[in-house]
Amino acid sequence: MVNILKREIVITADGSSTIRLCEEDECYHSVNGALAESLHIFINNGLNSFLNEKRASVEPIHKCISILEIGLGTGLNCVLTAIEALKHKDLIFNYIALEKYPVTVQELKCLNYEIFLGRDYNSILEKIHSVQWGVSEKILNNFNLTKIERDIKELEGDSLKGVISNVDIVYFDAFSPNIQPELWSREIFKGLFSMMSGGSILITYSSRGSVKIALRESGFTVKRLKGPSGKRHITLATRPDTF
Ligand SMILES: C[S@@+](CC[C@H](N)C(=O)[O-])C[C@H]1O[C@@H](n2cnc3c(N)ncnc32)[C@H](O)[C@@H]1O
Repeated sequence: MVNILKREIVITADGSSTIRLCEEDECYHSVNGALAESLHIFINNGLNSFLNEKRASVEPIHKCISILEIGLGTGLNCVLTAIEALKHKDLIFNYIALEKYPVTVQELKCLNYEIFLGRDYNSILEKIHSVQWGVSEKILNNFNLTKIERDIKELEGDSLKGVISNVDIVYFDAFSPNIQPELWSREIFKGLFSMMSGGSILITYSSRGSVKIALRESGFTVKRLKGPSGKRHITLATRPDTF
């Protein structure tokens, strides 16, 4: 059982902060750079490569992009995605974030993302954290956010299927398989697969063999990509178009 209660704020190698679980010695982001990691994995290799591929294809890109984040945490991936949404005014972003252990107001005050985001973009991060749980809110003209305070283990059953569907991109950002192996299971990935559209992607920082096997056994096509600083590889899983 993970001890989520004892947490502290730490500064990572690029100067951006993250949260550390003291007893597990597990951080919410890479100690080699929280901001650099989020940008490399979820924004560049996740969102932007998905959008580039769709824009290059002969099929018209659908106007709504649906993103599901597993583990909202500090909101860093969410705010970076919202900033990207500002560059794609022709698209509407529907962002759903699942979180079992929301970050406290006190912790949010101690994070230093404002230094990197600047005041305007930091106000988007503040909006993200002020959105009520379980309610869909428009935080930008083309960005709707729904935060769901639920356990991702519910993905094993059917209870989240009615709530989440036709997902284009999954940011799988749970704690590592070292401390939460049960969250990187075939059952969870199958649950996600069933909520995703054909041609959709799941991007995650773990490139562990057992994770890739579980993803393949759930129906995904799995590819290894170059990791951010301090991490050799990350994983991109695609739900085939014709499944
Ligand atoms: C590695 S951190 C990533 C945080 C986040 N993406 C960010 O940018 O700060 C993992 C997140 O998953 C959440 N989490 C852990 N177990 C969970 C569960 N069973 N269901 C939902 N969320 C969970 C944690 O509370 C934490 O916020």
